[in-house]
Amino acid sequence: MTKPILLVKSGGESAMPDWQRGFAEAGAQVEVRWWDDAGVDPAAVRYALVWDPEPGRLAKLPNLQVIFGSGAGVDFITRDPDLPKHVPLVRMATPGAAQRMGEYVTWAALSLLQDARRMTLAQAVPRWDYFEREPTAPETTVGIMGLGHMGATAARMLNGIGFRVIGWSRTRKELPGVQSFAGAVEQDAFLARADILVCLLPATPETRGILSAPLLGRMKQGAALVNVGRGQHQRIEDIIAALASGWLSAAVLDVFEQEPLPADHPAWQHPRLTITPHVASLPPRSERAAHVAQMIALHERGETLPNTYDHERGY
Ligand code: NAP
Ligand code: GLV
Repeated sequence: MTKPILLVKSGGESAMPDWQRGFAEAGAQVEVRWWDDAGVDPAAVRYALVWDPEPGRLAKLPNLQVIFGSGAGVDFITRDPDLPKHVPLVRMATPGAAQRMGEYVTWAALSLLQDARRMTLAQAVPRWDYFEREPTAPETTVGIMGLGHMGATAARMLNGIGFRVIGWSRTRKELPGVQSFAGAVEQDAFLARADILVCLLPATPETRGILSAPLLGRMKQGAALVNVGRGQHQRIEDIIAALASGWLSAAVLDVFEQEPLPADHPAWQHPRLTITPHVASLPPRSERAAHVAQMIALHERGETLPNTYDHERGY
C-alpha cells in the first residue's frame, strides 16, 4: 500500500536527510518528501510540515488533511492570505520546546541579575571591573506576558530558583507560585510589579508593537526586558530610547522585526543589550519529527489533535 505523503519545508533541502531519519526512527507511516520535489503529485500530499511557506502553495494541495508548524509560533504560516483555513494547523508544542524556552528565560533572568553583559564587556577590554550586585532572585519579580505552553514552563523554572513570578495572559491562570493577571484591565497592575518583564506572547494583531514606548513607560523605572516572543512585538528604537533615558536598565532580545538583524544595526554594540539570534527554543529535528509522527498517528485514528491554531483567537 502506498504511504501518504508528508511535504516538508523547514530548514531547507539540506535538512531533508535529518527529517527523513527522524520520521523513520519514529516509525511514521508517511513518505517524507521535500517541498519543491517536482516528482510529487500535489493530490497525493496528505500532510505538510512547514516554516514560512510561500503564500498560496498550501492552497494548491487539494487533499491536505493537516498542516504542522515546525515552530511553536505559526505567524510565518498564517500570514499566507490563501491559507486553507479548513485544514487544521498544529503548533509545535513539544515538552522539549517548553523546557528549552524555560532554560533560556532562566538564563536571561540570571544574566540580568548578575549583569553578565557588563562582565562580558569588561572581559573583552580586558578590565578588572569589580562591582557589587544587589538584589537576589527572591527579591526580584519576573513578569511573564503570555502564560501558555512556554510561559508556564518558564514560570515554574524561575520559581524553582527563587524568583517571584507573576504572569499576564488573556484569561486567568491557576499556576502554583504564580500570581495571575488577566486582560487589558489588569495590565498596568502587572507592569507596575515586574523587575524583569518577559514577552512570551504569540504574534497577533493585538500584540503587534506591544513592547513600545507607551507600555515601556508604564513599567517600573529601572526594570529590564526580555523578548523571546516575536520581533513584531517590539519597537527597537523605543527600547533603545528607554535604555538611553535609564528608564529601562537592560534588555535581552532574541527576536527582531528583520532577521538576521543587519550587521550595522546599533543594537549590536549597545552596552545594555544582549542580542541572541532567535535561538531561545529550537528542539532538534528528531524531537520534532517524533512529535509530528505521534500527531499523524492520532489523526489517522480519527482523534482530535491538540495545540491547533484557532483562527478566531489568532493564536
Ligand atoms: P501559547 O501556548 O499559545 O500561549 C500564548 C499565551 O499568550 C497564552 O497564555 C495567551 O493567553 C497569551 N495571550 C495571547 N494573546 C494575548 C493578549 N492579547 N493579551 C494577553 N495575553 C495573550 O504559545 P506558546 O507555545 O507558549 O508560545 C508563545 C510564543 O513564543 C510563540 O507564539 C512564539 O511567538 C514564541 N516563541 C519563540 C521562540 C524563540 O525561539 N524565540 C520559540 C518558541 C516560541 P490565554 O492563555 O489566556 O489564551
Ligand atoms: C520559534 O520561534 C518558534 O516559534 O518555535
